[in-house]
Amino acid sequence: MTDQLTSMAAHAPSDDVIAKAHVDAAKYDSMYAASIADPDGFWREQAQRVDWIKPFTQVRDVDFTLGNVHINWFADGTLNVAANCIDRHLATRGDQTAIIWEPDDPKDEALHITYRQLHSNVCRMANVLKSLGVGRGDRVVIYLPMIPEAAYAMLACARIGAIHSVVFAGFSPDALGARVNGCDAKVVITADGAPRGGRVTNLKDNVNKALLNDFDDVTCLVVRRTGQQVAWRGDLDVWYHEAAETVSDDCPPEEMNAEDPLFILYTSGSTGQPKGVVHTSGGYLVYAAMTQQITFDYHDGDIFWCSADVGWVTGHSYIVYGPLANGATTLMFEGVPTYPDASRFWQVCEKHKVNQFYTAPTAIRALMGQGNSFVEGSDLSSLRLLGTVGEPINPEAWNWYNEVVGKGKCPIVDTWWQTETGGHMMTPLPGAHATKPGAAQKPFFGVKPLVLDPASGAVVEGNGVEGVLVIADSWPGQMRTVWGDHARFEKTYFADYKGYYFSGDGCRRDADGDYWITGRVDDVINVSGHRMGTAEVESALVAHEKVAEAAVVGFPHDIKGQGIYCYVTLMNGQEPSDELRTELRNWVRSEIGPIASPDVIQWAPGLPKTRSGKIMRRILRKIAENDFGALGDTSTLADPSVVDDLIENRAKA
Ligand code: WTA
Repeated sequence: MTDQLTSMAAHAPSDDVIAKAHVDAAKYDSMYAASIADPDGFWREQAQRVDWIKPFTQVRDVDFTLGNVHINWFADGTLNVAANCIDRHLATRGDQTAIIWEPDDPKDEALHITYRQLHSNVCRMANVLKSLGVGRGDRVVIYLPMIPEAAYAMLACARIGAIHSVVFAGFSPDALGARVNGCDAKVVITADGAPRGGRVTNLKDNVNKALLNDFDDVTCLVVRRTGQQVAWRGDLDVWYHEAAETVSDDCPPEEMNAEDPLFILYTSGSTGQPKGVVHTSGGYLVYAAMTQQITFDYHDGDIFWCSADVGWVTGHSYIVYGPLANGATTLMFEGVPTYPDASRFWQVCEKHKVNQFYTAPTAIRALMGQGNSFVEGSDLSSLRLLGTVGEPINPEAWNWYNEVVGKGKCPIVDTWWQTETGGHMMTPLPGAHATKPGAAQKPFFGVKPLVLDPASGAVVEGNGVEGVLVIADSWPGQMRTVWGDHARFEKTYFADYKGYYFSGDGCRRDADGDYWITGRVDDVINVSGHRMGTAEVESALVAHEKVAEAAVVGFPHDIKGQGIYCYVTLMNGQEPSDELRTELRNWVRSEIGPIASPDVIQWAPGLPKTRSGKIMRRILRKIAENDFGALGDTSTLADPSVVDDLIENRAKA
């Protein structure tokens, strides 16, 4: 695809879209220029979208210098995030729906929770947490299905100054235990079970497996969702519905500092175990609210649906904090796109008259594969805008989304961002930019992207260039540290390219100066829009008694974007077999969770290593991609014949 072609294929916004938009082309240009020329002035003004208890005087105090990295925004201001998401709306929109909840089974009743009801529910949850001894700065792990209580729990923590760490309900007991341990949580909030796609995950059982024996000081607060039988850890477990009856539905919000942590969210990196990304209160909220309003062109009265799970950052910023800070109506969906059938997303859009819909390319590809009839049966006339996030979207899926779902009239915002960035970093804006299928396109306000030469680290100027993507300066939604390990924070993001935030992604700037994300340049793979560290899967595999060594790489996968390809060397005396393959697959699922399930396991009598013992992943990636012509120089390998064996057995994997 040449740059000329891509700009010819651009989709300009219609006059209607431009007329309604918060930001048109001229405004984008002038606002962007102002945000770069005078960040202090720009963000001082934008921060007024949040209610401060004590106004800040200092906008920012930032240093990206290795050894001295610190990031502070609005640091002497105070606020309460939950009060911003709830209380300040009560006078004007107390009876407006804050959350529409759509259950897994379409035959069950959807809920419409008003801002007033949200207030009372969040206060109750906050008081229950207090009664369990949770206070400012304490950590609470939330391991819940996509039910309103997940939002109540997050906001209840914010209200009392506790720090939440949401763990995706698809993670295994081991992964949950590691996260409870990692942040030294006082309480875990869970449910009896999690219905999803017509099947139930026994969440409380998972919690029991995670906590029994090792965590006798951790209380578990259990929300009743399915009514199934659950095993109790004696006095350590409390039913939420019982505790909620004993407390008041009023709980004054704590006055928090702008830089007090709001949440920890574990995410995968290229080395070691997942790290706890820390976001703080003031800057994060300003950034989540601003991006939700501007990127999606949200207006009062719109129904906004982000189909992510609250276990991921997308759910934090665009189901809970961003929309609620803006007084929006946000839709929360418990189920999956294909249950009861592949029309579910579109049925939900019709039923609740959704105006903005935000999902992941993997879901679009999966639904595209089911055929257009599943879309055509639903009335999608309420839709005004579509969004995607999580991985590069291929033009074919983009075009299908645009034509079949959006009927050619909904701008598509392809939003590039990360758990670390708190909110959108690059995206076209619906009323300002002619979109190009597959391009994240333009930096958001205040974001200064640079393309660097990966080898020299030099800034690559001009257009029609490619390299690694770094951000030159801070923005309010930036993560502040890795929980308990600031040195790891500095090393991961600020050591490779001095003075910049390194994203871990590669990118291209086309002839028009628009950005295209080309994917991770580190050992992180992107499976169905979920980040997975290859090191994590490797350490799960080698923890199995029959495995001597393992190397894991990503390979192209039609639906998932990338699949997980594992090269496994067995212990002496172990015989490869299909049964063992299944055993290892199940093992990884139980160590991490179903999302880490290996797609391919290839038996490898040896792995390609340099003479110093370093595994040559480049070669393993090429073999996994079936690209044997481009293996490059194998002469530095300790034993080059290993490669021949791997190629020969590629087909059998
Ligand atoms: C990838 C999700 C291309 C990227 C919000 C990034 C994307 C990682 C896009 C972060 C996009 C996210 N186009 N790639 N629009 N959005 N990515 O932390 O590789 O789960 O580094 O945050 O997803 O994933 P995370």
